[in-house]
Amino acid sequence: MNSNTETAPTFSRNVADLPGPKGLPIFGNQLQMRGSQWHVTLAGHIRQFGPIFRLEAFGIPIVVVSDRAAVGNLLRERPEGFERSGGLRARMNELKVGGVFTAEGDDWRKQRKMVTGGLSVDVIRNFFPTMGFMTERMLNRWKAALAEGKPIDLRRDLKALALDIIVGISMGYDLDVVNDDSNPLQHDLDNLMRRLASRGTSLYPYWRRFKLPADRVADKSANDVEQTVLEFIKSTRERMKQQPQVREKPSNMLEAMIAASEDPDSDFTDQELISNAISSVVGGVDTTANTIGWMINLLAQNPAAAASLAGEVDEVLGDARLSRDWDQMKQFPYLDAAHNETQRLRSATPFLGLISKADSVIVDTFVPKGMVIFVPTNCGDGMDEAHFPQHQLFQPERWISEQKLHKDDDPSRKVFPFGGGPRLCPGRFLALVEIKVVVSMIMRNFDLEFDTRAPPVTQVMNFFMSPSAVPVRLKLRA
Ligand code: HEM
Repeated sequence: MNSNTETAPTFSRNVADLPGPKGLPIFGNQLQMRGSQWHVTLAGHIRQFGPIFRLEAFGIPIVVVSDRAAVGNLLRERPEGFERSGGLRARMNELKVGGVFTAEGDDWRKQRKMVTGGLSVDVIRNFFPTMGFMTERMLNRWKAALAEGKPIDLRRDLKALALDIIVGISMGYDLDVVNDDSNPLQHDLDNLMRRLASRGTSLYPYWRRFKLPADRVADKSANDVEQTVLEFIKSTRERMKQQPQVREKPSNMLEAMIAASEDPDSDFTDQELISNAISSVVGGVDTTANTIGWMINLLAQNPAAAASLAGEVDEVLGDARLSRDWDQMKQFPYLDAAHNETQRLRSATPFLGLISKADSVIVDTFVPKGMVIFVPTNCGDGMDEAHFPQHQLFQPERWISEQKLHKDDDPSRKVFPFGGGPRLCPGRFLALVEIKVVVSMIMRNFDLEFDTRAPPVTQVMNFFMSPSAVPVRLKLRA
């Protein structure tokens, strides 16, 4: 599909010939690409204009590609053919949260190896007991709140638990935000994530010319987080000196990355260890917490699906109140299906931004080097009646019972919630384990009651897409 092939690919049109929504003078479509609903607007354009169309921002064209085969190729042809969009990379690096996410070329290859090693199945399995401990702490807090008649803020709590788990695995530190949200590291991480979200939708990078108080606070937070992680690295190195066996069985990402950095053939720097520990936190908290939040919202509004899931969880967990058994992670087909259905309907990362590194032909269109390209992670097919009948409905069964006569009928080939190709999300397995542990704990212990008097839940796009609220009451099961 791109110019790397021997024979020049043919095409019948240029980007200028593509259809697209009408824009404003000077701004073009720029104003439609801002705000908390821009992903919904873009999804509407995909339905209207089809597999490839054009937007414009201040006279600069942008191509949106939703053709499934083309999206698969674009994601696969990285880092050589396409790279991440420059604006996002610059914004993340300015706040020191880039790591492997913003790296390209050989630098990306090196960091990717370190991060995938740090998030390997073995590391996650070694961390699994700690994840169970943290999840039980949440359960105990909820039970105590119910006993005392105190309200539960699920949106806040799910994020706190996700933060505890991700800081635990990526830095080897127990924040315990679930019980106490006054930890300075948590505040610094929150500041960074908030600034990242607000700069992501800013029309003009003003902070490069002058800093508002919020920018100065974020800069200080970036330095403080860096220092804190440096301290974690020092103390982890010290501990690994005392307990050399940790190298063989690392139970967190930092231990695994430090062990890898000690290999004489590696040239990992402390700066790379720090930025990747931080970028895993940034990449792993809201994505996972938002996905669980959406799943709880959707289950609470679909009692039949919730009952099927509770049935599965009861059978797998037996008398236990939460999973402590690694082998159970393979025994939740309905939970897996409910997760897939949640990602299809409410992806935490609905779009990826890329740049072409060479002239290419995409969906019969000549796309020159340097073009910004948006791809939807559900490829448009995820909300297409032909691919997912009654596509607006939450039906986990469609991921289980569908007869897959042909491999293209497999629904998991139609959406890419974790991206794809060589840059497929390296935290995918961790996220899936965490979602199973947390959601099975919720379903084993509580009935879900959707608060029908609450304002409608809306999709809010900051850096990631989140539910505006999780208005679900937990009621202790008998
Ligand atoms: C439900 C949870 C999650 C979702 C939906 C998600 C989604 C994604 C997506 C769509 C990408 C871009 C992939 C691409 O460019 O093809 C990505 C990349 C990434 N994710 Fe995740 N993610 C999740 C959880 C996590 C977790 C838990 C971590 C870390 C522990 C993590 C760390 C990363 C990193 C480091 C990258 C950059 C990879 C690279 O550029 O090579 N993610 N994720």
